[in-house]
Amino acid sequence: MLARIESLRIDGSAAIAAAPDVAALEELRVRLLGRKSELTSILRGISKLEPSERGPVGSGANAARAALEAELEDRLVELEGAEVERSLVGESIDVTLPGAPPVATGHLHLLTRTRREIEDVFVGLGYRVLEGPEIEHDFYNFTALNHPPGHPARHAQDSFYVDPATLAEGVVNDHGLAPGPQEVLFRTHTSPMQVRAMESQAPPIFIIVPGTVYRRDTIDATHSPMFRQVEGLAVAEGISLTDLAGTLEHAAKALFGTERKTRLKPDYFPFTEPSVQVDVSCFACEGSGRLADGTRDSLCKGSGWIEILGAGMVDPNVFGFVEGAYDPETTQGFAFGIGIERVAMLKHRIPDLRLFFENDVRFLGQFA
Ligand code: PHE
Repeated sequence: MLARIESLRIDGSAAIAAAPDVAALEELRVRLLGRKSELTSILRGISKLEPSERGPVGSGANAARAALEAELEDRLVELEGAEVERSLVGESIDVTLPGAPPVATGHLHLLTRTRREIEDVFVGLGYRVLEGPEIEHDFYNFTALNHPPGHPARHAQDSFYVDPATLAEGVVNDHGLAPGPQEVLFRTHTSPMQVRAMESQAPPIFIIVPGTVYRRDTIDATHSPMFRQVEGLAVAEGISLTDLAGTLEHAAKALFGTERKTRLKPDYFPFTEPSVQVDVSCFACEGSGRLADGTRDSLCKGSGWIEILGAGMVDPNVFGFVEGAYDPETTQGFAFGIGIERVAMLKHRIPDLRLFFENDVRFLGQFA
């Protein structure tokens, strides 16, 4: 009997050491020490043994049981540890890795990117960036910019008028009265901020004003009733047309490439005198009007030049509308207005303005 107990213990130990996992170990516990196990039945049968055998068999069987229990316990700790280790290695997540599949991140809209590029050029020259209201008084949009009521140039920029009854209480026109039905509109250009900025600070002033503007217009490949501009205004002692030319040449090179040349042509705006149109030499044909294969360049229509903006020396009458430090007799400055959509279309050869607003990701994604 003692020999049998010894072999049960030895076989049991070997099986415990070989158990591959926690579940197998649990089965072994039942088989070796459970109610139906041989060791248990030996312990149960002790009373039926010869009195002389009871002591040695009882203590031998109990010792074997205690030894196997201890070994089961040790092996359990070992197997559980190994399982935790395995799952840590196998299921570990590195939260610093991109998702799988990687989650696409967004990017700025091409118009936002272009606005920032224009801003960077002028901020680099020391200009400050200002913004202004999109719903504007007729006074700032037209009158103070030298388009008095009835001036024919107003018709070139018809807009959307706003019912004054929908405005906050306390809004007054330049006569201190509640605005009339013709006096509040969606601004047609960013130029009203020329006057607002000069009202709020004395010269010298170097500002740019990016923003959205509105004109009553049909929608086609080159027109939209809503588009964006960047206004520029530089007023300081001795500012001349030469400064305007140099500044805009620098901007054209920064935006369209260092090889570009610019030229000024006479133009007309009521609030600048003289007024100019600024052209940049065409970057598709390098100014020749012909493409490499000899065909006429469609970007510049064969002229070698592309119109990029309107500008001019601030008309003294505009200074006259600004109360304060801007004496029309002595103050000089220049102003310009750049179309953001136009710059983006030229730079990236975008054939249709409507593409900017349709939000088709196949288009937008090309400018990530
Ligand atoms: N505001 C003019 C327009 O929208 C552009 C411009 C700005 C012209 C400043 C001259 C000076 O057409």
